[in-house]
Amino acid sequence: MKSDTSKQLFDRGMKVLVEGCSSASRGPMNYAPYPAYIREGKGARLWDVDDNEYIDWQLSFGCLPLGHAHPAIVDIVQEKVMGGTHFATALEVEVEAAELIVEMLPHVDKVRFANTGTEACMTGVRMARGITGKRKVLKFEGHYHGWYDGLLVSTNPQAVTTLGHPNDPVRIPDSSGLTPGSLEDTLVCVWNDADALERMLKTHGHEIACVVMEGAMSNMGVIPPKPGYLKQVQEMCRAYDVLFYLDETVTGFRVAPGGAAELYDLQPDIVTFGKALGQGFPVAAIAGPDHIMESIEYGKVLHYGSHNAPRLGLYAAKTMLEEMRRDNNAGWTKINAIGEEMTTRLNQVARDTGQNMRVQNVGSMFHPVFTDLDEITGYRDFCGHVNLAKYGEFSKLMREQGVFFTGNKILHNLSCTAHTQADIDRTIEAAGNALEQMSRVG
Ligand SMILES: Cc1ncc(COP(=O)(O)O)c(C=O)c1O
Repeated sequence: MKSDTSKQLFDRGMKVLVEGCSSASRGPMNYAPYPAYIREGKGARLWDVDDNEYIDWQLSFGCLPLGHAHPAIVDIVQEKVMGGTHFATALEVEVEAAELIVEMLPHVDKVRFANTGTEACMTGVRMARGITGKRKVLKFEGHYHGWYDGLLVSTNPQAVTTLGHPNDPVRIPDSSGLTPGSLEDTLVCVWNDADALERMLKTHGHEIACVVMEGAMSNMGVIPPKPGYLKQVQEMCRAYDVLFYLDETVTGFRVAPGGAAELYDLQPDIVTFGKALGQGFPVAAIAGPDHIMESIEYGKVLHYGSHNAPRLGLYAAKTMLEEMRRDNNAGWTKINAIGEEMTTRLNQVARDTGQNMRVQNVGSMFHPVFTDLDEITGYRDFCGHVNLAKYGEFSKLMREQGVFFTGNKILHNLSCTAHTQADIDRTIEAAGNALEQMSRVG
């Protein structure tokens, strides 16, 4: 596979950009020695600047349920861009997109648009504090909610010996530059364990504003909740007078039309969306019932932003939702079926080649991990039993065969409506080749 042009761009990029690009996740840390610079995307395909073609399963970290350059998105954006890109005023499309979301989500009365998941989560936490007058936030080990200081605790895999007792997990800051307040006000609990949460709420419930979580872990591979667990969390939050905040940045408009809340039959107090919602444009949202959302009225709890409700992004979001909802939500039926097939067949290939690769999924989100366990049920399993270097090697071998699996070892891969049966078959064949090569090398 040629990569001369990417190499040249990387050399130039290193002089003017940190790591040659704009996020550690996209640079040499995950794509050593240098990343492929992508020129173009269409459907489920990517092309890099050296003309290599890839089947894309990373899909902009889940931002593209319809794949790249979907004709309906291209049409609406081309039409609307002629009328201006951004006014920072109230917009008709803002009302229309919010109406659609409220219609789709029974737990939501009102929506506030933002730009990124991080911003939305920062706002969600501030709202919870403003509404309850309580200062602490309870999050879970291995759950990522963006890079806002207050939630940037215990989000990365660590040596199990550093995690502390499961009744009182050590809070591990994930960046330099955090203030002690970020740690003091952020409690960390073991996930997928109702007793652990009950213990924390019994002790600290009176000072906790909200329990925030992903409905399915998507930043430690893919880890589904145990049956009934999320309902128990919701009930406990109600019992201890703590707001239940479901961060649907990844799962929203992806795992089901109504996200994890629909899939697991939940009525969260606060929800946040991002990624899939914008279909490739930076659109995020904070949403919930009236009595919660009224907290940001007139800046009682402040949420501002010059770029909120980006005009073209909202046309893309509205069009994406309309496309996915067509024929009784056929878009979600399709991407979930592809996710299931990828999971089953990748697991079969792993068995056939004798590799200890296991694939877990929630609908269209799936991820291979190399592990001695039959199942990864939480962060501590992931930290203690997953060989990240092997996934790095596997994903590199896949990309060398023209199949773009994310190089980020703790994230996940995803399907979109543009993936075809031939894409799946070719990917499975590439996975077989990659695993056989890994077996030969040992
Ligand atoms: C669950 C979750 N919440 C929030 C975020 C932050 O979103 P963004 O990258 O748009 O800031 C992410 C990003 O990966 C996420 O996975």
